[in-house]
Amino acid sequence: MSITTIFFLALFLLHFHHLTFGNVALNTILSTIDQNAPWLSPSGEFAFGFRRIDNTNLFLLAIWFNNIPSKTIVWYANMPNPAVPAGSRVQLTPTGLYLTNLQGQAMWTTGELQGDVSYAEMREDGNFVLASSTSSNLWQTFTNPTDTLLPNQTLPLNGMLSSRISRTNYTKGRFELYFNGVKFLLSQIAWPTEFHYNPYHGFDAASKDSVSGLVFNSLGNMYIGQKRVWGNLVLDVSRNYYRATLDYYGVFTLYFHPKESNKAQFWSVVGYVPNNICEAIFSEMGSGSCGYNSYCSWDDTNKRPTCKCPGRYSLVDPNDEFGGCKPDFSFGCGADDERSQENPEEVFEMKPWPNVNWPLGDYERLINYTLDECKRSCLYDCNCAAVIPNHAKDCWKKRFPLSNGRYVNDHGIPAYLKTRIQPLGNLNPPRLQPALLFGSPIGSLVVALLVATAVSIILLKSKNGVQVSSFDETNMHSFTYEALKEATHGFNEEVGRGSFGIVYKGTLKSATNTVVAVKRLDRVAQERDKEFKNELSAIGKTCHKNLVRLIGFCDEGVQRVLVYEFMSNGSLADILFAKFKPNWNVRVNFALGIARGLHYLHEECDTPIIHCDIKPQNILIDENMRAKISDFGLAKLLYSDKSGTLTMIRGTRGYVAPEWYKNTPVTTKVDVYSYGVMLLEIICCRKSVEMDLDKVEKSKAILTNWAYDCYMERRIEVLVESDEEALADIGRVKKWVMIAIWCIQDNPEIRPSVKTVMHMLEGLVEVPSPPSPSSSSLSMV
Ligand SMILES: *[C@@H]1O[C@H](CO)[C@@H](O)[C@H](O)[C@H]1NC(C)=O
Ligand SMILES: *[C@@H]1O[C@H](CO)[C@@H](O)[C@H](O)[C@H]1NC(C)=O
Ligand SMILES: *[C@@H]1O[C@H](CO)[C@@H](O)[C@H](O)[C@H]1NC(C)=O
Ligand SMILES: *[C@@H]1O[C@H](CO)[C@@H](O)[C@H](O)[C@H]1NC(C)=O
Repeated sequence: MSITTIFFLALFLLHFHHLTFGNVALNTILSTIDQNAPWLSPSGEFAFGFRRIDNTNLFLLAIWFNNIPSKTIVWYANMPNPAVPAGSRVQLTPTGLYLTNLQGQAMWTTGELQGDVSYAEMREDGNFVLASSTSSNLWQTFTNPTDTLLPNQTLPLNGMLSSRISRTNYTKGRFELYFNGVKFLLSQIAWPTEFHYNPYHGFDAASKDSVSGLVFNSLGNMYIGQKRVWGNLVLDVSRNYYRATLDYYGVFTLYFHPKESNKAQFWSVVGYVPNNICEAIFSEMGSGSCGYNSYCSWDDTNKRPTCKCPGRYSLVDPNDEFGGCKPDFSFGCGADDERSQENPEEVFEMKPWPNVNWPLGDYERLINYTLDECKRSCLYDCNCAAVIPNHAKDCWKKRFPLSNGRYVNDHGIPAYLKTRIQPLGNLNPPRLQPALLFGSPIGSLVVALLVATAVSIILLKSKNGVQVSSFDETNMHSFTYEALKEATHGFNEEVGRGSFGIVYKGTLKSATNTVVAVKRLDRVAQERDKEFKNELSAIGKTCHKNLVRLIGFCDEGVQRVLVYEFMSNGSLADILFAKFKPNWNVRVNFALGIARGLHYLHEECDTPIIHCDIKPQNILIDENMRAKISDFGLAKLLYSDKSGTLTMIRGTRGYVAPEWYKNTPVTTKVDVYSYGVMLLEIICCRKSVEMDLDKVEKSKAILTNWAYDCYMERRIEVLVESDEEALADIGRVKKWVMIAIWCIQDNPEIRPSVKTVMHMLEGLVEVPSPPSPSSSSLSMV
């Protein structure tokens, strides 16, 4: 084929796709179906058209940076719900743009214009303009901004930036940037209405400058009058793209992104206001940067706030850090729960939570109150959600919902949150839908209870078989509750949360002052008695250097506590996903150790133990950096004469084997699956599912899929990019990726046993080429 043929073929293809650069002729139509043929600026740097929202079947009519991998959106057609369904189309007519859905109903227009449109233009600076026959601008995106300004764009005095509601939902959010006649201000609004709460940041011109708007000039500097908004910055518009965005958490941020594709392809922060939004927002109304009942801390590395839920509160929407938290229990005030008012101490307890305050949520300040009086006052007060005591013996009572929460230095006196002591018997009837079971703590308790019951039934049924072993044979200590309370200073220092309860650090009073991890199981109903004993007998008899050792227990009335050896270096997740990757050799030893521990559980115990929840959070690291498997809370005892047939799903999303979803027996192979996922995480030092598409490209979001693609395309090295040590050992990396792919086969029969896995890792057995795990290996739920 000659060069000319290719050229004409290319022209033909361009024509075929209706690729439009610069000017757009009247009556041209774009639809969600030709997503790939947007209207481009002359150089192709900006595009106007439909963009699919994540993996949904919804679209935005938008403008985006077209030459960068993240295709960042800078403008979208603003309507109550900007996400329009598939089949929607937009047409350029003499009276403006018309966006209609598949049924032809109008969804959005450019409004009334002062003349007839004769063409439209996607300009080089990102402005999309409707022009008349005399080339005057009838309408432009630059004067109708959404949450972003671009260089060469001015926010007029009557204009406004409005944040979106979350990273992926473009509905109008909680923050606005606007001019109040004197200054440009940032405020939280009384969502969804327009009322502005007290502004949390303002910027104005110097003295007598005349102000025409917030001017973002073509060199990337932003001015009000003569005054620079971000101070003196060194900017380079020839090398970088810039944008200023009112982020969905309320920070107004100037970002840059290198234009050249051989530079790091992500947005970095150049400037931002306010300095620390967690502290800047100080309005009695509204939730603050984070949602209600959460608390905010400023992440100075990433220049953005992060939100956490205190104590027994969890995110309202698990995928939206900024959507607020809800209590995992009911306050039960009013007629619906008389017991909570007559005897609150039987129903509630005050739980300490360090380093947090909700400084604007007070409704009472009691003075000269001891800590006990303060806590008790909240317990007996139905309006009280939390108290903040201080050294001066003040007791600040906080109302629900807790708002404007923030990280503070509490100088040793934590906040106390009212929390319900919830016996299992009081739970709502279980609804066994996977969606409910995943993620929800109540859900996992329900599952745990059902599993426990099932296990006890198996136990009761196997007449001549396995009895719960007596504790004498396990060499474990039996502790009194008092002793453990003392050892943990009243269960004060929380170090983690397992599937069945909270783990505290403690010190045993003895010659050696042994440091221990004390796992206090949630106050349990009688039905869980059996399960507690099961767990004890199974764990008590295990002994392997890659398993966390159980030292003792306490079984006193309703108190069930397990005492483990303390692991000083946290969990594998802490180490693996930290900012600095652990050395390759350290990771190699982790992977080998975990496989050995798992092999022991599966094949060397009296009764094989399926862990069911293998994941980096359940692997602890001791002071010698040795990996140990912990949390047998979900482990199911497997008797050699019965293969498991339980079909209830346990484990953690991202690590569960597909057979949990099917009506097939659950075997030790579920752990092999989870191990495979985790092995990839250990190799790549990243999470199995990365929902934050700012961090990875979409094709890499699911680690198992990405790893298989890299293996098939013989590009294993990109999995350990910039990891010199791993690159130097690329032979092993490749072999281990192949082992991982064997482990994550959809069909459990094809997966190797953990013994084979161990031998392959150790190099004793060859690793054959693995087949495709099949396309359904993991889906992004
Ligand atoms: C900036 O805007 C002006 C006025 O709208 C326009 O004439 C100019 O071409 C724009 N600059 C760039 C780089 O697009
Ligand atoms: C976005 O958020 C709004 C308000 O919470 C909600 O009504 C809408 O359904 C959400 N849109 C999508 C696409 O999730
Ligand atoms: C605080 O309370 C104690 C005991 O109730 C009392 O003796 C003391 O005088 C009180 N102090 C003040 C400053 O009120
Ligand atoms: C592991 O623990 C030891 C002893 O506590 C400590 O010296 C070391 O720094 C820790 N290593 C990591 C990576 O946390």
